Amino acid sequence: MSELLQLDTTNGRPKPPRPEDLKLQFSEKAIAELEALKTHYPTLKACVLPGLWIAQREYGGFLSGDAIAEVAFRLKRSYAEVEGVATFYSMYNTAHKPGKHKIELCTCLSCHLCGTYRIRDYIKQKLGIGHGETTEDGLFTVEEVECLDACDRAPVIQVGDTYHGPVDEAYVDKLIADLRANPDSTVVKMADEIVKVHLRYDEAK
Ligand code: FES
Repeated sequence: MSELLQLDTTNGRPKPPRPEDLKLQFSEKAIAELEALKTHYPTLKACVLPGLWIAQREYGGFLSGDAIAEVAFRLKRSYAEVEGVATFYSMYNTAHKPGKHKIELCTCLSCHLCGTYRIRDYIKQKLGIGHGETTEDGLFTVEEVECLDACDRAPVIQVGDTYHGPVDEAYVDKLIADLRANPDSTVVKMADEIVKVHLRYDEAK
């Protein structure tokens, strides 16, 4: 790899490892899942999206440069190709490692009209973090997102695979207390659930 690629010119994008530094980290279970999925798609390229979900779960909810490189290696794609896919979809976490629970707060029109910025300010006061930030204990990340397609429940929050709405301050209090008591990462759990859906969908065909 050229020296140019080793410079940190990534502007917040995942930084690729040097080929000699690539350490494959997929578990046996993950490798078996990827092998199963490969047989259900016409090309390895078509398997990139489910491969990235497996990686997001295996790498603790974050698609680091190493995670993207491993998907590229296992699916015989270039790093640039897989990174382009991963950074296109906002559900893949590539900009920064999220906390154990990612609180996604819709700020689009319906939610805006129903008080989402009041809720945002309340969460900021309660957790001390704003958009794109993670609490020091690594428990929570907050992200302001586009329409979650549940406008009838505005203002809406998504945590993992669960929608919450309409939310108010009391709801936020309970939600955060419940998440603190949750031993599992809702970020990792969501990735795992999506992998299972991919596997079930393919098995059903
Ligand atoms: S505007 Fe918030 S879910 Fe659609």
